[in-house]
Formats: sequence, structure tokens, C-alpha cells
Amino acid sequence: MLTLAHVSDTHIGGSPDSVERTRAVMRHLDGLPGPLDAVIVTGDVADHGTVEEYETARELLASRHPTVMCPGNHDTRAAFRKVLLGQDGGGDDPVDQVLRLDGLTVALCDSSVPGRPEGFLSDGTLAWLDAVLAEDPDTPALVGMHHPPVSLGIPYVDEIRLRAPERLAEVLRRHPRVTAVLTGHAHTAASTTFAGLPLLVAPGVVSTLLLPQESPAAEPVDYGFPPQISIHVLADGRLTTHTRPVVTHPAG
Ligand SMILES: [Fe+2]
Repeated sequence: MLTLAHVSDTHIGGSPDSVERTRAVMRHLDGLPGPLDAVIVTGDVADHGTVEEYETARELLASRHPTVMCPGNHDTRAAFRKVLLGQDGGGDDPVDQVLRLDGLTVALCDSSVPGRPEGFLSDGTLAWLDAVLAEDPDTPALVGMHHPPVSLGIPYVDEIRLRAPERLAEVLRRHPRVTAVLTGHAHTAASTTFAGLPLLVAPGVVSTLLLPQESPAAEPVDYGFPPQISIHVLADGRLTTHTRPVVTHPAG
């Protein structure tokens, strides 16, 4: 059995309490009595993508657990790569990342498009994913990225979802080892399907996006809910997802 925390949309440098909320989440994960097999971060780590925001994020996201992360539309590839990953060079190339655990591969694709809010997976990223998934066909794999490839019922974020999702579906269908697709971007714990697979959207650390039935606002962003995370449990080739709010001011 493998247990993975899924953290998304910390937006460091965005709302005033983005730092405090992210710190609370990471403190919670590091303080768990049992170890996690990994922490997966699906983008929008920083709000403006500045070096200073990533320096703060690097400290906040430091964990005793193996961590893998990809950019979102608020991130900037060069600063993300240099500050968070400690890698020089690469410039504006996609930041695709893989974490190979004993019994699971986590492949995170860079779905960001520099300067744009919507998502797209480049030919290079899809070829990279195809090659990673071809490596070890008998080991389960999770494929993650920032942008959900389908609508979720929140127009504000549906308008900036992943473009040309059929390009991703085509790759996923070639690899039966893929167990689920993980995304962020929507700031709402949502579960749906894509390409015949479970699609699990992480809640937002910095805020929660509401359905039209919950809020008439054009930008239905709620800061009243606590930061939330998902915890995925992989057992018998099946993923089960638990969602947890995290208290930002523990009593005492
Ligand atoms: Fe986003």
C-alpha cells in the first residue's frame, strides 16, 4: 500500500495568508505519525512566479517525504526550475517531472503555457510522458498536471482548462498501467473521469472555488474554508482518495 499527499495551488505571494496556510499544510504532513510515500504538488506554487516567491515556497515545501511538483499557470518555468528544483538551464522549456517509487511511478506534466491561463501539453511533453510510461509497464503509474482536461461545473475555471485533451487521452490509452489522473487548478476537491480513468482534482491550499449554485460571483473564490489537501491510497491497483481540511491555528 502506498499513501500520497496531494497538495495544490499554494499561490505563495497571492492572498495575505497564503504563506500561513501552506505552512500549516506542510507542518501537518510532516507531523503525521505515519510516513507518507510522497507529496505531490500540482502547480500554482507561486502567485506571480517571482524568484522571491519561490524562495519562500522552497522553505515552506521542504518535507521529510519525497516530493514531486509541476508548474501551473501562475508559475514561471525558469524561476520554478532554478529555485525550487535547483536546476540551471532549460529556460522556458516545459518542467516535466517524474518520481519513481517502489511500486509506483508518478509522472507530472507541465501543462502551463507561458503568459496564458489555460493549459496545453506540448508535443515534447506528450512524447516525454509516453516514454516514461513505456519504461516499466507492469508498475502502476499516476499521471498529473495542473490543468484538468474536462469541465468541472465551475465556469470560471472551466474556461481555462486543458486545451486539446484528446492528445493526452491518446497517450493514456496506450498505457494500461495508468491508474488515475491527478490535477489542481480548480481549487475544489472534485472527482470525475477522463479517458476511462479516475480524474482526481486536489482542493486548493490558498482558497476554494465555488459552484454557481454556491456563489453568484464571476470569480467565486472563497477564503473562508480552511486549506485542504487530498490523501491518495494506492492498494490492489486501485486509488482511494480522502480529503482533509487543515487547521491553520492549532489550539494551544
Ligand atoms: Fe491555476
